Amino acid sequence: METYTAFRIHQDEAGHRAGFEQLPIPRPGPGEVLVRVAYSSVNYKDALAGTGRGKILRTFPLVGGIDAAGTVEASEDPAFRPGDAVIATGWGLSFDHDGGYAELLCVPASWLVPMPEGLDARTAMILGTAGFTAALAVHRMLTNGQTPALGPILVTGASGGVGCVAIALFARLGYEVVALSGKAALADWLHRIGATRILGRDALADAKRPLERARWGGAVDNVGGELLAQITRTLAPHGNIASIGLAGGHQLETTVMPFILRGVSLLGCNSVDVPQPLRRTLWEHLATDWRPADLDALLSKTLDFADLPEVFDDMLAGQTHGRVLVKIAPSTQP
Ligand SMILES: NC(=O)c1ccc[n+]([C@@H]2O[C@H](COP(=O)([O-])OP(=O)(O)OC[C@H]3O[C@@H](n4cnc5c(N)ncnc54)[C@H](OP(=O)(O)O)[C@@H]3O)[C@@H](O)[C@H]2O)c1
Repeated sequence: METYTAFRIHQDEAGHRAGFEQLPIPRPGPGEVLVRVAYSSVNYKDALAGTGRGKILRTFPLVGGIDAAGTVEASEDPAFRPGDAVIATGWGLSFDHDGGYAELLCVPASWLVPMPEGLDARTAMILGTAGFTAALAVHRMLTNGQTPALGPILVTGASGGVGCVAIALFARLGYEVVALSGKAALADWLHRIGATRILGRDALADAKRPLERARWGGAVDNVGGELLAQITRTLAPHGNIASIGLAGGHQLETTVMPFILRGVSLLGCNSVDVPQPLRRTLWEHLATDWRPADLDALLSKTLDFADLPEVFDDMLAGQTHGRVLVKIAPSTQP
């Protein structure tokens, strides 16, 4: 029997366990595509799933990895042919379907995005779900009237995967970007990727009244909790907040004052099931007019597939920064 290598997660009476396994090569059914994965990446969600410290997977066992990029090996859908370069992020990957930490990935054709010109498997996975989510935030904010004239964009969780791409995208689009980060030692790097100013994590701690001095034209928030509440109180009239993450908490205690007196908008962003037309549009932007000036500058680490499990604990402990790439392809060679 022909097999392929995958990083598979189990949860049963014996508890959580995850590791590399050999699985039988799947044959794509009608409407499905078999992809040979070249690169994947590590997102916060992948670290939660890989360690069993978050309820990410809906069914077990499953192959981990919410991201993959590679080449079509076999297709039972007319939209894709062998040799096509493709990207898969979100949908059911590492949720209720095997994910991208595998040499081969069999998915519905409707989950795949053709690789846009200007990106390849490696650069697409430097961006990955983190970059796609940052692009979704940009899209939601621009659609809702965000302009540089409203004021600077605050990015929280700035040194993280989503945060660093959000900084680079808004900088590329001509915005002043203020990075809020708990990692003072990364100040030079944050400046290099596009931040004009850097604040510490408690910089807004005194913003306690329902309305405080307006300081930002918009914000991309990866942290949630009290920090998100502080942002609502300090946003300029008609500004937008893209709510993406909960690295600091899932609760939100604020008042309606910023919304009804300043016309502030809180825009939810969910990258998982973005419909295909918008998905393709966002990847096209990431490849062209929104493309970060230096994609490699966002990358902190490239792991060989075999070393993947090493990074999960570090990420959950806040000891990683930027994007973490996983090179899957070399282990496919005999
Ligand atoms: N809505 C969606 O579709 C979507 C998609 C992707 C990710 N997410 C969520 O977005 C968040 C960021 O994801 P990511 O992949 O970028 O993760 P990441 O690379 O681990 O980045 C998270 C960053 O948040 C900051 N942070 C961590 N713990 C914190 C705490 N206790 N209090 C305040 N700040 C803290 C850190 O930045 P600093 O040290 O610089 O402060 C950290 O680098 C996660 O909550 C993730 O689940 C949501």
